Amino acid sequence: MSRFQHLDASVVEALDLPKPARVAFCQADRWIGYTRATQILSQLDQLVGYPKTLRMPNVLVVGRSGNGKSSILERFTHRHPVQETAAGSPIAPVLLVEMPETPDESKLWSTVLWGLSISHREKDPAALKKRSVKSAMHYAQVRILAIDEFNNLVNAGRAAGDLLAAIKGLSNELKISVVAAGTQSAINALNSDPQMKSRFEPAVLDRWKLDGEYLRFLASYERLLPLAEPSGLATRELAPKLYGMTGDTLGATVKLLKQAAVSAIESGKERIDAKLLDQVPWVRPGEWDEVARRV
Ligand SMILES: Nc1ncnc2c1ncn2[C@@H]1O[C@H](COP(=O)(O)OP(=O)(O)O)[C@@H](O)[C@H]1O
Ligand SMILES: [Mg+2]
Repeated sequence: MSRFQHLDASVVEALDLPKPARVAFCQADRWIGYTRATQILSQLDQLVGYPKTLRMPNVLVVGRSGNGKSSILERFTHRHPVQETAAGSPIAPVLLVEMPETPDESKLWSTVLWGLSISHREKDPAALKKRSVKSAMHYAQVRILAIDEFNNLVNAGRAAGDLLAAIKGLSNELKISVVAAGTQSAINALNSDPQMKSRFEPAVLDRWKLDGEYLRFLASYERLLPLAEPSGLATRELAPKLYGMTGDTLGATVKLLKQAAVSAIESGKERIDAKLLDQVPWVRPGEWDEVARRV
C-alpha cells in the first residue's frame, strides 16, 4: 500500500480496474473543496436556516463560464437533500432549476414545476402555473430557489424586468431566498430591477491565478487520478505549464488533467509529465480562432 502514498485511499483500489474502467474513472467529475468554494457553500448554507423575514437575502454566484458555478450549486443542493416528515410529506430545502434559454414567465414556472416533478400543460396560462408553483413549493417546504444560468435573463430582453418582478413576488410571498448563478451578464440583467438587485449579495469566483491555491488544487486533484506513479502536478516544472495551457478557469484545468490522465493510462506511462502534456491533444482557450482560420 505504501507504494501509492500519492493517491487517496479511495483511489488506490481503482488501480486494479481494467483499463476502460480506469479511463472512465478519470473522466468522472470530482469535488475538491478549494477555499473559495468552501466559503461560498457556507454562505449559502446560512440562507437555508435564515428566519422568514420581509426581505429575504439572495446570493448571486458570479464567474466566468467553466469556473465552477454549477458545481457549487449542485454541491449545495446535495448538502440539503429531500427528506420526509413523520407524516410522509416531502421536505425539499433547496430546489435547483435552470433559467430557460430564452425565458418568459410561463417557461420559468414550467421549469420550476418540472423541477418539482409536477406534470402540467406547458400551454397553461402563466398565472395558473404560478399558483401551482406557489402551493407546491409551500407544501414541499422549499427554503431556497436556486437558479443556474441566471445570465439567460438577458435573452428575455425587455421582459427581464417582469421576470425579476415575478421571482421577487414569489420570494416575498413564500419568504424564500434565491441563490442564482451566472456569468457577468447576470449582473446586467439585475440592473433592470435595482430593488431586487439590492437584495443580492455577490459571491465572486475570480479568475484563477498561479498561486498557492492553484497549486493546492493541482495537488488535491493528483490524489484522485488513478495513476500508478506520482506526477508532481504542483511542482515548479509542471504547475506553470498546466496554468499556461489552461488559462484561468477551473473547468479548463480539470479538462486537461482528465485528458492527460487518460493518455498516461493508455500509453502505459502511468504519470503525467511535461512531455506527455506536449503530446496531449489539446486546444488552448483562444486557440479556436486559429483553428477556424485553418479550415
Ligand atoms: N470543486 C471542484 N472540484 C473539482 N472539479 C471541479 C470543481 N468545480 C468545477 N469542477 C470542474 O470544472 C468543470 C466546470 O465547472 P462548472 O461548475 O460546470 O462551471 P460553470 O457552471 O461555472 O460553467 C466541471 O465539469 C468540473 O469538472
Ligand atoms: Mg454552469
